[in-house]
Amino acid sequence: MSETSFTPRVFSGIQPSGNLHLGNYLGALKRFVDWQDRDVESIFCMVDLHAITVWQDPVDLKKSTRELCAGFIASGLDPEKSILINQSQVPEHAQLAWVFNCVARMGWMQRMTQFKDKAGKNAQNASLGLFAYPALMAADILTYHATHVPVGEDQKQHLELTRDIATKFNHDYGVEFFPVTEPVIEGAATRVMSLRDGSKKMSKSDPSDASRINLTDDADTIAKKIRKAKTDPEALPSEAEGLEGRPEARNLINIYAAMNNQSVDEVLADVGGKQFSEFKPMLAELAVAKMSPITTEMARLMEHQDEIDKILSRGSERARAITAPILRKTYEIMGMVPPVEM
Ligand code: AMP
Ligand code: TRP
Repeated sequence: MSETSFTPRVFSGIQPSGNLHLGNYLGALKRFVDWQDRDVESIFCMVDLHAITVWQDPVDLKKSTRELCAGFIASGLDPEKSILINQSQVPEHAQLAWVFNCVARMGWMQRMTQFKDKAGKNAQNASLGLFAYPALMAADILTYHATHVPVGEDQKQHLELTRDIATKFNHDYGVEFFPVTEPVIEGAATRVMSLRDGSKKMSKSDPSDASRINLTDDADTIAKKIRKAKTDPEALPSEAEGLEGRPEARNLINIYAAMNNQSVDEVLADVGGKQFSEFKPMLAELAVAKMSPITTEMARLMEHQDEIDKILSRGSERARAITAPILRKTYEIMGMVPPVEM
């Protein structure tokens, strides 16, 4: 099926499970803003139904959802231009997910590495929802007929599954109804690594707070974490090949490049030959300049929770104008008897 027969539409989501960090910002949020500014219709979602696949304290979930919405807006998403939603307020996500549970095959789901990582050794005790998670993610995307999904590298496998689900549905029912979505994994920071260990992804679940820059850290904390970031004793290379086998150096250069909207080569042309003692203060200064306006704005928005709640309600109203007809049509294709006017 030609992927161009669908109007371009962007969808992406982040889990409201606390601690938005620099990886989320560079790998996701900052790129959402780039899409919005290209004037493509875009929907960005706080995926609370995904968050509950592992235990969430109800008070924390509510706070994290509002904080994530504040983070979206503080990063530059405009709730007038983009549609900002909380997943549980748009019921078609969960309804279409059920349909996709019946399309996806057990074998496909069993290959998902995120499930294996998250369930760990005790897979028998994991929730059924954690296993079905990628089918809900496919529903998030396809209930908008979204064509482009900006995410970090770790979501690649889930997006391939989304394509498989769309293709199988279209094939099984002999239709060209769901688009085969394009993953958009681009830029220098699709995989931001821990500041303490260049072989581990920066993650909200890392027990060491020094491993990540949180979107709630103040300027001093940001600068301190960068000063303390793990490095090696060599000077920086002038070309990208010189980063081979130096994961910590590569990570800090990637972060610099992504924050400054430069390529890795451009950054190395400037800083090649410098020691970390010289480069780290440059990075700290850049990080503070870019991040502290966001953290300040987030804190300000969190004082106006009623505004945040209104933005989400308005977002779900706009979203449902897209999702309800797509779900109705899906049911019709599948042979569900529709309700009649009485
Ligand atoms: P999550 O916090 O797991 O819901 O992830 C939300 C978004 O941030 C997804 O698009 C992820 O791919 C992206 N993301 C999470 N961690 C990182 C990281 N360390 N580097 C780059 N992108 C990330
Ligand atoms: N699984 C994504 C993550 O953990 C979050 C997510 C849920 C998502 N639904 C989505 C991302 C749809 C993109 C599109 O990061």
